[in-house]
Amino acid sequence: MDKLVCVPDFEKEAHKLLDNNSLQYYKSGADDEITLQENKNAFKRWLIKPRMLRDVSNRTTKTMVLGKPVAFPLGLSPTAMQRLAHPNGECANAQAAASMGTIFILSTIATSSIEEVAGAAPNGRKWYQLYVYKDRSLSLSMIQRAEKCGFEAIVLTVDAPYFGKRRSNIRDAFKLPPNLRLANFQESSKHSDAMSGKIGSAFAYHDTLLDQSLTWKDVKWLKSVTKLPIIVKGIMTSEDAELACSFGVAGVFVSNHGARQIDTVNPTIDVLPEIVKQVKGRCEIYLDGGVTTGGDVFKAIALGANMVFAGRPFLWGLTVGGEAGAQKILQIFKDELDLMMALTGVSSMSELTSDFVTKDWKSHL
Ligand SMILES: Cc1cc2nc3c(=O)[nH]c(=O)nc-3n(C[C@H](O)[C@H](O)[C@H](O)COP(=O)(O)O)c2cc1C
Repeated sequence: MDKLVCVPDFEKEAHKLLDNNSLQYYKSGADDEITLQENKNAFKRWLIKPRMLRDVSNRTTKTMVLGKPVAFPLGLSPTAMQRLAHPNGECANAQAAASMGTIFILSTIATSSIEEVAGAAPNGRKWYQLYVYKDRSLSLSMIQRAEKCGFEAIVLTVDAPYFGKRRSNIRDAFKLPPNLRLANFQESSKHSDAMSGKIGSAFAYHDTLLDQSLTWKDVKWLKSVTKLPIIVKGIMTSEDAELACSFGVAGVFVSNHGARQIDTVNPTIDVLPEIVKQVKGRCEIYLDGGVTTGGDVFKAIALGANMVFAGRPFLWGLTVGGEAGAQKILQIFKDELDLMMALTGVSSMSELTSDFVTKDWKSHL
């Protein structure tokens, strides 16, 4: 791994190592994959405005998220089925996050269970991503298990009443391999067989469980069944950010699901400013989508995010080196962010404001 010095290095390496079934599942976006590319391009259209002679000899990347410290503001987005990348899957990523002092979000459709991840990283900060099912008792039991296992927040994903059209997954008929299972369903005798890779249709079966009738009133329901803070993930407009605030969420998570749902939806970094403006500090704001450098993290924080997350970079890290690979990805993000701070005259996250970025409208990207 010594020669891999940036996230794209890991991506290239992981592409060589992964089987086609897993690679296509991880890398694909919706339809023509325009937003998949634009999520990244948009970061590069925001340019840095550095300040000089500001004594940068003492810096810290530390910040507070939901009232507790993180070593730096880049955490792991929930991505499904991490054991496709490495036998330790979610457990390895959670351990990497814990050892680096940041947040790991566990997907509902993980290949390691809530209990396995809690056991692997008991002291790390962990949030649980929730899909709400027609069978509310199933969602409720997951929430209660997450609470019992020390997860600190529920991340309600609101952008996936159905899954987007990812062409390669249809062409190649993506299948969960027989040795894997959607581990969070093992507790439920009703669903556990269907969620095993031995049957092969686990993913399709999962779709049939999702509650497509979900509305904002279900956020109220969620708040009534758990004391954990609720974060809504998948917000892309100021209107929905306003609704989220009015329903009393702890965090608005600006995300387009890594461009896997709606193609030609805006890149996330471009909608962040209007959402920050709307929220006016009523709750925290997080962002993911196309974040591949510490400079991208810098820009999102400058534009008002409290914390930034990345999905695919940790799938590449996991593929290449398990826990050590994920840890190296985190170290790369942290070092790049710290260097960017040093070179731009920023010593702490609180100093990093929108004065440090500008939009280059002439860019061809
Ligand atoms: C392979 C894959 C699986 C994902 N699974 C989930 C999931 O189970 N739940 C969820 O809320 N988001 C899921 N996402 C979206 C991520 O949480 C995140 O929004 C996205 O990966 C961010 O974009 P990035 O990959 O460019 O960093 C998934 C994304 C990928 C790439």
